[in-house]
Amino acid sequence: DADTGFLRTLPKAELHLHLEGTLEPELMFQLAERNGLELPYSDVDALRSAYEFGNLQDFLDLYYQGAGVLQTEQDFYDLTWAYLERCAADGVVHVEPFFDPQTHTARSIPMSTQFKGITRALNDGQEKLGISSRLILCFLRHLSEEDAFTTLQQAMPWRKHLVAVGLDSGEKGNPPEKFQRVFDEVHRLGLGIVAHAGEEGPADYIWQALNLLKVQRVDHGVRCVEDPALVQKLIDEQIPLTVCPLSNTRLKVFGDMAEHNIMQLLEQGMCVTINSDDPAYFGGYLLQNYIAVRDALGMTEAQAIQLARNSINASFLSEAEKAPHL
Ligand code: ADE
Ligand code: ZN
Repeated sequence: DADTGFLRTLPKAELHLHLEGTLEPELMFQLAERNGLELPYSDVDALRSAYEFGNLQDFLDLYYQGAGVLQTEQDFYDLTWAYLERCAADGVVHVEPFFDPQTHTARSIPMSTQFKGITRALNDGQEKLGISSRLILCFLRHLSEEDAFTTLQQAMPWRKHLVAVGLDSGEKGNPPEKFQRVFDEVHRLGLGIVAHAGEEGPADYIWQALNLLKVQRVDHGVRCVEDPALVQKLIDEQIPLTVCPLSNTRLKVFGDMAEHNIMQLLEQGMCVTINSDDPAYFGGYLLQNYIAVRDALGMTEAQAIQLARNSINASFLSEAEKAPHL
């Protein structure tokens, strides 16, 4: 409808997107076959019907299993390129995707294979689709800080292809403070810093991400509402939250979209953005997330414009690079 057309044509940035979370079942089967691997599902439909999650860990178990089909540079290229084509269809003009190198190096897939495939697709995205991008490497927080240090070392030859380093995977029991030293090193290297915090974990993890890791954005952050002083700080300092509505309902952070707090946060003056997180697993890319929020919570045109502008403003682009999209 006309309303959806409006949301589509708004220039939007996606700031919270795991490339491994864009692996559609069709591509997963294709890559499994190409690489001579057997998947524990009879077909695409059987795999899709397994996407029923009670919490974050249920999802992560399938997500890491699925990522096992990614082996060659071409695999990483095909994954990234398919995502960029979806972005073009949704009116996404800029992306800052995450990837999880440790889930691949643990399977003896070299860092260079990952970077080459991903960056070649991102370059083609700029050349052929006009989509700009900046890449973010994420540490897996269920692994040790020592493992994160090793990963940072392995990524150093590719440093110029990274804009920031993030922190993802199972949040409960893996607080930001566990990674304070390695993010000190990330800071010394002049890279940006983001972290998942306040998705399943408490508001205190958001405080730790801000005060100990010095994050420039908070990924998810929806549990900030449990601490009014934190809410006030996020508003006063306009620290962006990269909120993922379909993810939050599929992982039962909110029971239903009607219960989601994103529009409440926006109305309080927080710099919230809409993102898709792992769209192949959660049933929708960026535009579908805007539509789902609009349909369940209501979103005026002015609010849609504000959300899209927030996504551009919260990006790592320079002011001059942002200007044409604002
Ligand atoms: N890895 C991929 N998606 C994630 C999420 N929503 N939270 C934590 N780790 C993730
Ligand atoms: Zn995420």
